[in-house]
Amino acid sequence: MSKKGFIFDLDGVIVDTAKYHYLAWKKLANQLGFEFTEEQNEMFKGVSRKRCLEILLEIGGVKATQEQFDTWMIDKNVDYLQYIEKMDASEILPDVEKILNFLVANKQPIALGSASKNAQPILEKVGLLSYFNAIVDGNSVTKAKPDPEVFLIAANQLGVNPQDCVVFEDAIAGVEAAKNANMMAIGIGEKDVLVKSDFVFKDFTELSLEFLEGLVKK
Ligand code: BG6
Ligand code: MG
Repeated sequence: MSKKGFIFDLDGVIVDTAKYHYLAWKKLANQLGFEFTEEQNEMFKGVSRKRCLEILLEIGGVKATQEQFDTWMIDKNVDYLQYIEKMDASEILPDVEKILNFLVANKQPIALGSASKNAQPILEKVGLLSYFNAIVDGNSVTKAKPDPEVFLIAANQLGVNPQDCVVFEDAIAGVEAAKNANMMAIGIGEKDVLVKSDFVFKDFTELSLEFLEGLVKK
């Protein structure tokens, strides 16, 4: 089998943390006196914490001083971390381990490519950290998805050419980042949302090992 690089987004691909991000942003919005819906939360997927707060304040029509902005960023994260604290392996999304085990068994390098600054502790909590040959997260990048930076650094750390990398993503910005990096993008979610993906699966239970084997052999 040839050597490919497999790069996974974290939130919404490996674990369903989007609901915790949502609850923490909603709490802040409510404290500031406005509503924040699950539908609006879709815009936050794959987007950095700072950009999320900017969008949230635009939604609420709230103007912030730099000091307030910084405080709210911290408040949201403290709240989010309370949910993360309680996470365990039961929160790994279906069949993620099936895919990771297959890749390890076939000696394929695996990287994380996430916008989150909390990526490493989350992988530790759910017990998946040891699968990853490289971790590229919100602490290692300067440019947010859809910029390809996060995935290009991951490919580099794996020692694999970008065009030989396969990215698993649940966010529109993430799929765009993968395509901007000249990689194959596999969308995890809805076909009509992740339209720029090369393939889309609702979740990993729909992605067969035969399909994965085909990608490795390509
Ligand atoms: C992404 C999430 O993975 O990480 C976004 O999809 C989130 O919703 C971003 O805002 C940053 O996460 P964190 O953990 O650094 O606040
Ligand atoms: Mg995601």
